[in-house]
Amino acid sequence: MKIAITGISSGLGAACFHSNDARFTVFGISHSQCAPEKKIYSYSNLMALPTMEVLILNAAIGDSGGTIQEMNPVELEQVMSVNVLQPIQLIHELFQLGKLTHLKQLILVGSRFSSQAYISSSIFENLPGYAYCLSKTSLSLFAQILRKENHNFTVNIIHPGVLNTEMGNPDGNHPTLTCEVLFELIANDYFLKEYTGIVDISTSKIIDF
Ligand SMILES: NC(=O)c1ccc[n+]([C@@H]2O[C@H](COP(=O)([O-])OP(=O)(O)OC[C@H]3O[C@@H](n4cnc5c(N)ncnc54)[C@H](OP(=O)(O)O)[C@@H]3O)[C@@H](O)[C@H]2O)c1
Repeated sequence: MKIAITGISSGLGAACFHSNDARFTVFGISHSQCAPEKKIYSYSNLMALPTMEVLILNAAIGDSGGTIQEMNPVELEQVMSVNVLQPIQLIHELFQLGKLTHLKQLILVGSRFSSQAYISSSIFENLPGYAYCLSKTSLSLFAQILRKENHNFTVNIIHPGVLNTEMGNPDGNHPTLTCEVLFELIANDYFLKEYTGIVDISTSKIIDF
């Protein structure tokens, strides 16, 4: 099965891209690398990308948080651009290029902060920042709208759990283990169904939108 995944330089994306799981061939889409001979494609080189059965939109950046007075307006734009506009524009372009004809599963890597319910139940100090929360809840809404178009692929959004990456924290799960869980779910056709919330792959629970 062919998987394409965005954001492969570090963290979960790197773990998936370098996975040795023989069931999958993994192609990377990267903003910082381009090496088609190594199955890495840049956002401006998508014509060369093979068609895929699974597309994982994983690339994202965090923000530095703070109150509405403290937040950085430039960062707000950057986070919305990388975390929301870029993945939506990418799907649009892949459609235009005819790259989604074999797609069966679209998986958006969101967060528990993709959940308005989770945000509502959290205290302000535990939120990662306006930009990150807005970007991830926007992705949730995007998933719900895209589903209404009834494409030949399912649309799901996941929370990978807290990861031991630069964006996460050292107590988080190792991205390689999280990748193994994700790939097992994909291999078992778990995402051929659309879930009515964010799939927390670290607990197998569904977080309400
Ligand atoms: N870490 C956590 O605890 C945690 C928790 C919940 C959800 N998540 C979500 O899980 C996903 C992976 O997180 P992670 O911790 O593995 O992230 P990460 O290590 O920071 O990696 C994110 C990747 O995004 C790409 N990227 C960075 N800046 C970019 C830009 N300006 N434009 C386009 N792409 C850019 C990079 O890959 P390229 O250089 O190859 O483009 C980078 O390797 C993200 O969607 C994140 O929001 C993470």
